[in-house]
Amino acid sequence: MYLAMILQLFTLHIIFHQVVGSCVCELTNAESPFPHDKLNIVEKEALQCNKDINPQKIQEFDTLLSALERRLPRLVAEVSDLEKENDGELYGAIALQVIENDMAEIQQLLNKLNDTHSGLHLSTSQKLQDMKGQLQQLEVFDTTQTVKRQKTNIRLKRDLDQCTHGSHPTPGPVQGACPHGQLLNVTSPRVHTAGEYPGSYKYGAWGRDPKPAVGKEKWYWLVILTSSNVYSHYVRRYTTLSSLILGVSTPGNVLISPSNPTTNTIQGPNVVLYREALYYNCYNRLAICRFNLTAKTVQSTELPKGTRFNSKGNFCHLEACYPYTDMDLATDESGVWVVYTTAQDLGNLVLSQVEGEGEEPTLGTTWRTSVYKTAVTNTFVACGVLYATRYISKDVEEIFYSLDTVTGVERYDVGIYIAKMAGHIYSLNYSPVDQMLHAYGEAFMTSYKVVFG
Ligand SMILES: *[C@@H]1O[C@H](CO)[C@@H](O)[C@H](O)[C@H]1NC(C)=O
Ligand SMILES: *[C@@H]1O[C@H](CO)[C@@H](O)[C@H](O)[C@H]1NC(C)=O
Ligand SMILES: *[C@@H]1O[C@H](CO)[C@@H](O)[C@H](O)[C@H]1NC(C)=O
Repeated sequence: MYLAMILQLFTLHIIFHQVVGSCVCELTNAESPFPHDKLNIVEKEALQCNKDINPQKIQEFDTLLSALERRLPRLVAEVSDLEKENDGELYGAIALQVIENDMAEIQQLLNKLNDTHSGLHLSTSQKLQDMKGQLQQLEVFDTTQTVKRQKTNIRLKRDLDQCTHGSHPTPGPVQGACPHGQLLNVTSPRVHTAGEYPGSYKYGAWGRDPKPAVGKEKWYWLVILTSSNVYSHYVRRYTTLSSLILGVSTPGNVLISPSNPTTNTIQGPNVVLYREALYYNCYNRLAICRFNLTAKTVQSTELPKGTRFNSKGNFCHLEACYPYTDMDLATDESGVWVVYTTAQDLGNLVLSQVEGEGEEPTLGTTWRTSVYKTAVTNTFVACGVLYATRYISKDVEEIFYSLDTVTGVERYDVGIYIAKMAGHIYSLNYSPVDQMLHAYGEAFMTSYKVVFG
């Protein structure tokens, strides 16, 4: 009986299958199907690429390089031996053969290195390029835009990161730990312009605010000594570098006082703008003034007794001194500095930090140097290092001296040359926002890129 039932069920099953077997579900998709095969190929290629650039390959490279490194000094030694001991006879002939042999070996190494390098480089970069193209094609199938959104998110996150890091720098001086490395060189002039007043004002200063207000990130400032080549009473501003060059100042002047010289007048060319405030030696005073461009107020701080002022402690070269350069204000990554000299320092350069955060500016840490101020034509500070220049010729100025404020080490062999465009540099300042040196002299504005490494 059971058997009969099972048999019945079995036949039922077969019939059911015969009837229903033809049922086909038709799925229509408006989109073209996702090319899984293509994705597979790209995945395989990526894997291959990973294999191509592997530690072994790099190791091979390193081995070849170190072999070269060992052989080159040997070759040098052999050549110098030959030079010393050449008797023109047997010894010379044998030594030459040894050298030839070594050179052939080195050539082989070089060829091999070149092959390894170019093979690796060509094939891999070509493959990466192809893969990029293929992935871009595959992105079309990202109909729900998931990948695209993810990418945007990553980009936004990175920008946000940069933004938060950029606007909250670590407090205090960057001294020594320079984010750009060591100052190696200064390029040829990047900008050279007579600006808005060609030939009119020999002395002045210009540059960018290292800590600009929001919306003023691209602004430039200019201070020209309009009265007797000594005094000024305003800051002129430009919204871009090109408007400075073309001489179009839409923001115009920000006045400290209606005329000069009077209380709080700017005295001397070596001024800087920092956080929307101008720092300068104020008229007829042993003091640094800070003019707040927003509040239009001036605060000041006295320099130590004995500091030379009123054109008694100037920058000089052999033939002349630059008038009213007693106090050289400077900016770098960490803030504002002032360079001056005092009677007790016997005319040597003194460097002090200027703390500008408080109600009134104050002097911070001070460093004393062994370099005589009259042997120096100007100074600037970059990454916590003081640099001093001297006059070489009307075309060349040399950065010859440095003082590292972290280690206290002084150097007199910096040996970096600046190509001048106008005979003299009366003010020189470093801009940490773009690592440029801004120079002003003989009514010309010139800038140079600082090369770090
Ligand atoms: C390096 O290899 C490339 C091609 O593989 C060749 O064109 C080039 O001349 C080689 N360079 C040297 C210095 O052997
Ligand atoms: C420094 O830069 C100048 C100007 O670009 C260049 O002529 C000089 O060779 C450079 N010096 C070094 C040591 O790189
Ligand atoms: C300048 O004045 C403004 C407005 O009073 C103030 O917010 C700002 O902190 C001042 N800047 C300096 C450097 O004192």
